[in-house]
Amino acid sequence: MKRLTILLGLVLMTIQPLTMNAQTSGNRFEAGKGTFLLNGEPFVVKAAELHYPRIPRPYWDQRIKLCKALGMNTVCLYVFWNAHESQPGVFNFEGQNDLAAFCELCKDNDMYVILRPGPYVCAEWEMGGLPWWLLKKKDIRLREDDPYFMERVAIFEEAVANQVKHLTIQNGGPIIMVQVENEYGSYGINKKYVSEVRDIVRKNFGEVTLFQCDWASNFTNNGLGDLIWTMNFGTGADIDQQFAKLKQLRPDSPLMCSEFWSGWFDKWGANHETRPASDMIAGIDEMLSKGISFSLYMTHGGTNWGHWAGANSPGFAPDVTSYDYDAPISESGQTTPKYWELRKTLAKYMDGKKQAKVPALIKPIAIPAFRLTEVAPLFDNLPTPRHDNDIKTIEEYDQGFGSILYRTSLPELKTQSVLKMDAHDYTQVFVDGVLVGKIDRRLGEKEITLPPCRKGARLDILVEAMGRINFGRAIKDFKGIVGKVELTIDVQGRPFVCDMKNWEVFNIEDRLETYQNMNFQPIQSLTDKHGQRIPGVYRGTFKIGKPSDTFFNFETWGKGLVYVNGHAMGRIWEIGPQQTLYIPGCWLKKGENEILVFDIVGPKDVTCEGLREPLIDNLQITKPLKHDDSSILNKVDLSKVTLASEGSFAPGNGWQEVKFNQPIKARYVGLLAHNAQDEKGIASIAELYLLDEDGERLSREPWTVLYADSEDTSSKNCTADKVFDLQESTYWKTERHKPFPHYLIIDLGEVHTLTGAQYLPRMESQTPGSIKDFQILVSEEL
Ligand code: GLA
Ligand code: CA
Repeated sequence: MKRLTILLGLVLMTIQPLTMNAQTSGNRFEAGKGTFLLNGEPFVVKAAELHYPRIPRPYWDQRIKLCKALGMNTVCLYVFWNAHESQPGVFNFEGQNDLAAFCELCKDNDMYVILRPGPYVCAEWEMGGLPWWLLKKKDIRLREDDPYFMERVAIFEEAVANQVKHLTIQNGGPIIMVQVENEYGSYGINKKYVSEVRDIVRKNFGEVTLFQCDWASNFTNNGLGDLIWTMNFGTGADIDQQFAKLKQLRPDSPLMCSEFWSGWFDKWGANHETRPASDMIAGIDEMLSKGISFSLYMTHGGTNWGHWAGANSPGFAPDVTSYDYDAPISESGQTTPKYWELRKTLAKYMDGKKQAKVPALIKPIAIPAFRLTEVAPLFDNLPTPRHDNDIKTIEEYDQGFGSILYRTSLPELKTQSVLKMDAHDYTQVFVDGVLVGKIDRRLGEKEITLPPCRKGARLDILVEAMGRINFGRAIKDFKGIVGKVELTIDVQGRPFVCDMKNWEVFNIEDRLETYQNMNFQPIQSLTDKHGQRIPGVYRGTFKIGKPSDTFFNFETWGKGLVYVNGHAMGRIWEIGPQQTLYIPGCWLKKGENEILVFDIVGPKDVTCEGLREPLIDNLQITKPLKHDDSSILNKVDLSKVTLASEGSFAPGNGWQEVKFNQPIKARYVGLLAHNAQDEKGIASIAELYLLDEDGERLSREPWTVLYADSEDTSSKNCTADKVFDLQESTYWKTERHKPFPHYLIIDLGEVHTLTGAQYLPRMESQTPGSIKDFQILVSEEL
């Protein structure tokens, strides 16, 4: 039967090119006066952003058809470098990675393609699409004109072009435009680098139209004269405002929002994000009524399979497995109310053509609860270790993904002692097999207190790497332990810091074979001899009559990675908000199926169940999201607080700058908002920077929120840390019932000399909650 299906697939694949409808060679897509031109005729791009590696291949066609049926005419896609080049020079463009086949499918469905081959893509994808092995050159300058980086970029872009160059519109294919780099303005200013990427893309793709995308606030920083400039902004933004600067600089440019964010991505330990359908529809309607092109990011988000989810910074905010994005088409390919409303709106802009029919949807199934039956406890199944005097990151051991265990022995500890380290990302510390506690990078944790112990007690530091940061300067994100492990011991009443050495290192690479080759035994108990949960690989089987999509519930599990029938399904973590994993029916079989769960914490119960609906909005955290612990305020010594600046911000969108009267030293910075421009009782800030001695923006990497008097977390994440999350479309917002004044105190991590501040209100027209009268108060210590 299986052979027959493969055979049938092969036959279909070979006859497909013959049935493709003709997009003949010699076509052109270019910028005209105030519009794009397709073969000389005005053309409005209505693009649906879809990422082929995030969608099971057997479903590609159905998802493209769903986009087509919305009334879209184009698919916009990223190429994830690290998914295609797992090791230098080892390329994979097959199966899930078959970029050319995906573009052909778009063409078969009469959809054009916008190709965004990076090299960097962001996209909440591991390291923004860059391969981890670049970090083996420790001093590499990523996304800069570093010779090794550029050499690798050239090789990769050539490989991509070899796959799809024949599919540019000039060559009769569907690709109308190719993007150069991605939002470089949010990373830095370096026209030389951006031009080098442009030249590489140009050399490999030939004549096709090239563009670069950025934010309205920074696109001029790296804008190249010969490229089309497009803007990225989210649902709710004031559209005229977003294009104002571009229109002024290039009055004849076609206008395009190359990423109109339909929703937003979820992070572990934070609220599920949604954006109102009405705002999205209003934005699309407005753009189309003005002839503005767009790409709806995401129209269908899909899934971050395996270890591919990225993480955000400042700080460390790892993304969940689902990339549902609150998009019109759900993670599993279901239509949502947003979908139907959007379809209705797009119907108005079909130029007399009929919208395509909505394809059949997949009917999800429930799978009755079953138990996993076998376990391979991690500590009994460690790989052969290596010895290393000094501790190193996983990249230095040539490991890309997974976990690592560092083992050494302790000196005698007569009293409690502090162990310090910078561990990426989720760490459990054991002494003689007893779990002492965890160090969660997400929460800024860097140390743990060890109990007294005997000389020679075994210290185990088990570090799980999550996704590498995909946004901002922090993308150079080494995993494992970065730097030293320091133990502060008490020597006759004096603290003595020792640098721990002489390690045994166990590399637990995230690969199916790592888990499959372990020694499994029947599950006897869910706890070990110390009464603690058992980290390990759990295995089981389940039976299905007729395979279809389902959502496996992992609410009773700890933290880790799941494989079903050999497919890497993604990460799970009990803190949520995501509690289920999407299991596509196309990867299930009639009869017996196998599931493996590598749970690094250990499950509370080994049950699993297939649900018909996902659970992606179920947060289970102990540390509150809000920063409203007012006991902190009692600690503030008011005599040490200085007024750095006071005044009134102007109304309207866009950045504003405040200069302090004189340079001032501070570690804690408080912003006091007395009222809002719209007098609606709510304060809101999208972004805030502080300026250093040279008037330059201070790095916000080490910043944390010390206190915020009010934060609205009722419908989305409007906590105070949103003022330094690098995203102009996210913001701090106070609650409706809390009166002014409002204030927010930021801890800069260390003392800096400050000369001013920059403030960005919300992007929406009328800038809801934008602040009028303010004071900035600072102090060096609390
Ligand atoms: C930016 C990036 C995208 C994605 C979105 C947020 O616009 O260009 O890759 O990260 O932000 O979802
Ligand atoms: Ca923000």
